[in-house]
Amino acid sequence: MAIRNIVQEGDEILRKKSKPVHDFDEKLWELLDDMKDTMVKGDGIGLAAVQVGILRRVVVLDVNNMKLELVNPTIIDQYGEQINQEGCLSCKGKWGYVKRPKEVTVKAQDRYGNEFVITGVDLLARAFCHEIDHLDGVLFVDKIIKDYKEKKKK
Ligand code: CO
Repeated sequence: MAIRNIVQEGDEILRKKSKPVHDFDEKLWELLDDMKDTMVKGDGIGLAAVQVGILRRVVVLDVNNMKLELVNPTIIDQYGEQINQEGCLSCKGKWGYVKRPKEVTVKAQDRYGNEFVITGVDLLARAFCHEIDHLDGVLFVDKIIKDYKEKKKK
């Protein structure tokens, strides 16, 4: 296990689409373990493989004391909406309000290739969306509702 470098906004790799995982082998497990260590060290709640420079559809999450590994995740259902603040380990110092679904159901595979379905609400739903966006080259800063704070003050 090892801490990997987190790619920062401005690096074009963050804008690329990640490829599906086909081999559920030791290389994947090492990537998942390293991503978990890197996320914990960075004090984040989620990390996508592209953020450590690997263009594969792999995500780790640590939300509400629940650690999750998602390989080839896709959103299969979503409901409602929520607006809250977001940040990203690849966009240091940036925060902003982003609109996301209130509830999100994801289909994914575990590190052995077994398929599973999981539903998250609130923060977990937000984290699913944020990390799956990374796999498609999308950053939360693209989706910030810029004037939300100002509107609230009026
Ligand atoms: Co992020």
